Amino acid sequence: MFNSISNQASKLISLTKRNSQKSKTKLITITSGKGGVGKSTFAGNIAYLLSSRGFKVAVIDADIGLANMQVLFDIKPKYTLFDYIDGKGTVEDVLLQTAYKDVFLVAGKSGYRYSNYSNSFVFARIVQDIISLNKFDIVLVDTGAGLNDYVKEFLSISNNILAVTTTDPSALTDLYALMKMLSKDKEQLMLCFNHTKNYQIGDTISNSLINLAKKNRLNKNFMVKYIGNVSTSANISTTGRLRKLFSFEFRDDDSTRQLQLIIDALLRNIK
Ligand SMILES: Nc1ncnc2c1ncn2[C@@H]1O[C@H](COP(=O)(O)OP(=O)(O)O)[C@@H](O)[C@H]1O
Ligand SMILES: [Mg+2]
Repeated sequence: MFNSISNQASKLISLTKRNSQKSKTKLITITSGKGGVGKSTFAGNIAYLLSSRGFKVAVIDADIGLANMQVLFDIKPKYTLFDYIDGKGTVEDVLLQTAYKDVFLVAGKSGYRYSNYSNSFVFARIVQDIISLNKFDIVLVDTGAGLNDYVKEFLSISNNILAVTTTDPSALTDLYALMKMLSKDKEQLMLCFNHTKNYQIGDTISNSLINLAKKNRLNKNFMVKYIGNVSTSANISTTGRLRKLFSFEFRDDDSTRQLQLIIDALLRNIK
């Protein structure tokens, strides 16, 4: 996935991949090509719903451009991911307890210049360190939009990748670009649709994308698994603005139920 990958970096990546497959801590990376499709909303709410099922979860806000998980969790971070990167905080320091029991957040910071560190594979290192704590069941990474180097770094160490998309043509174009890239060295991509009322619509579009991949002869061993949809809901945007999680505030809402079904499928598919 990286052209100019150093020997040391590629060792670190395979170590992280192997460890997350062996260890009890599973790594899930949430991504999309396009911004604004609902990744962070999904990451925060999936984290909470997983914790309510008895899992201990660490969320890493890896959206370097626009870190906003701390807003969603209503936290003023004393430490961020970058204190760890800069050696000013330990992995324990940067894992912040949220208001939700068993959900911890490694906060991001907007405007960070990744290029300063692009050769040191710091993200693989923090994931490795969190896995080594042997304290979490799931590490959930919320990436930013686009396919830049730091997003690629998280994708390269993840066996479990969940793409969030809408039915918007530009979101689907970006999603196909992601599929093309991942097909080179991944076995599967889980896919869910946001702002999509009907489960069937997501299924139909997923099948079209899978057919396109076949037609364009993407790697046959690469599978795209459609795992569900979430409708547009005023409760989601309102709770987002109020710095709360919709799945906590509106447990019986359709959108919470839809997200629960996505989590059922996610848990069936993770490695
Ligand atoms: N299903 C939905 N219904 C209504 N609003 C939503 C829904 N999903 C996301 N939003 C809102 O859309 C905006 C962008 O979502 P966000 O999760 O920040 O996207 P991303 O992380 O992909 O950039 C937020 O204001 C969020 O509250
Ligand atoms: Mg986001």
